[in-house]
Amino acid sequence: MAYTAAVITVSDKCSIGERVDTSGPAVKEMLTEAGFQVVYTSIVPDERSEISAEIIKCEYEVDADLIITTGGTGLSKRDVTPEATRAVIDYEIPAIPQAMLYYSLQITTRAMLSRAVAGVRNDGLIINLPGSEKAARENLGAIIGTLDHALKMIAGEGHNK
Ligand code: MTE
Repeated sequence: MAYTAAVITVSDKCSIGERVDTSGPAVKEMLTEAGFQVVYTSIVPDERSEISAEIIKCEYEVDADLIITTGGTGLSKRDVTPEATRAVIDYEIPAIPQAMLYYSLQITTRAMLSRAVAGVRNDGLIINLPGSEKAARENLGAIIGTLDHALKMIAGEGHNK
């Protein structure tokens, strides 16, 4: 059975209709092509409490196996997605952002400006991506092939003790 996914776009401008969200749809398209069933998408402003609440909603109510956020990972004062994510995860998976960085640095040194976080809440895998469509596509492309195995491990299917 296909894993389910939710995509949260984090952007002040997109949330009030001042900018068209192209990153969320691009992430949805990539996940669908990779075999995920994208069951939920949303747009929230760069507000820490709203981002955290949306992640919890996706994990608990929507019951998505994979929750991807795009946007708000940078260095401006409104970029709070990493903090909002850390506040609601049980544990971090540092090597997922490291893998995205390793890949992305070969494209642009600006990749070092993303503070993306990945982690697990209950049995949901949460991963931050940067906000531009280009950056979101490149970062997701670096890890998408491993997500299936990660979700299997999170579900306990790799545990043989
Ligand atoms: N990673 C890749 N692969 N390609 C990019 O173009 N842009 C960087 C970085 N990561 C980029 C990237 C830039 S310019 C910024 S500011 C940070 O992601 C954070 O982006 P965000 O604030 O939109 O999340």
